[in-house]
Amino acid sequence: MPESFFIVSKDNLELATDEVISIVRSYDRFAKTQVFSNIVIIQSTIPWQTIARRATFVKIAGLLLRKLSNLFLDEDSYLLLQNSSTFSCRVINLSSDSSDTTELERAMGSMISKFSQSKVSLNDPDVVVYLIFTEDQAFFGFSPKFVKDERPKKVRGHPHELDWKLCRAMINLSGIKEDETICDPFCGTGTTLLEASSMKINSIGIDFDKKMCDVSRENIKANGFKSEIYNEDFSYMDKIVDSFDGIVTDIPYGRASKTSEGPEKLLEKLVSKIPKRKKVAIMCKKGTEKNLKWNFAKRYEIYRHKSLTRVILVK
Ligand SMILES: C[S@@+](CC[C@H](N)C(=O)[O-])C[C@H]1O[C@@H](n2cnc3c(N)ncnc32)[C@H](O)[C@@H]1O
Repeated sequence: MPESFFIVSKDNLELATDEVISIVRSYDRFAKTQVFSNIVIIQSTIPWQTIARRATFVKIAGLLLRKLSNLFLDEDSYLLLQNSSTFSCRVINLSSDSSDTTELERAMGSMISKFSQSKVSLNDPDVVVYLIFTEDQAFFGFSPKFVKDERPKKVRGHPHELDWKLCRAMINLSGIKEDETICDPFCGTGTTLLEASSMKINSIGIDFDKKMCDVSRENIKANGFKSEIYNEDFSYMDKIVDSFDGIVTDIPYGRASKTSEGPEKLLEKLVSKIPKRKKVAIMCKKGTEKNLKWNFAKRYEIYRHKSLTRVILVK
């Protein structure tokens, strides 16, 4: 079974590793996953590029080799190096042994140079070969240059808009896939709709404020995306419940956004309207979920500043 590795950023580590795992599981529920610090290792036939393209917090990704054979590399990795004009080597040491690894990197570099035409380049190489070792295991990672898709642009924003990275991570944590449909019943400027569309996920937005619906529509149009946007109260969800597969949203809590009622009440009403089999990721201010009677699978805390910690609830 092919293996791949994903190095994620260390901020919000659990959320970042779970995001990668949720993406692969949404395509392959039998995928095997392992996490070592900020590295996720996945055994699956799903190409690593499919996961890396969607994941928000992945910094480095590529193919993984567990063992070195006598020939040093398997055929795919060998070809990858043969077809690259430049490479560099890096050691990632996750063990408690803190020896200097510079010599090891140099030795790997000169060994690879001997059997490939590829030249060492520390500046923007075509492929980086990683030696990753933990307390009891060692892996080789091959990370070819990988260009992520262009980011959607917003022509109009608002102080209450959701951070796009968290929004994208929420979509991925919900387990929704391409060609499925997401609904954001408090869509505001359309962050969820934009992120979903950029991942080829269909989107529906609802907002009771006409101005916010117009902002969402402009942002969607500016990117050439399509999205249904309803100027209604969020309870309009009931009428279109068969048209979406999941809900991704952040609850208004009255600082910069208009709200019809208090956040606790809104959250309680929202979850009571979500049918059992829908995929769900909801963000709210920490504490809003305190008395909520809802069996979510995961809860992540995102510290913003001393008077604001957000919570993401995923079902
Ligand atoms: C926190 S903002 C959403 C921000 C949005 N995620 C974005 O990135 O722009 C909350 C939105 O909920 C809307 N809203 C508040 N109460 C509502 C209700 N009862 N039904 C529908 N929309 C509501 C507000 O107009 C506001 O645009």
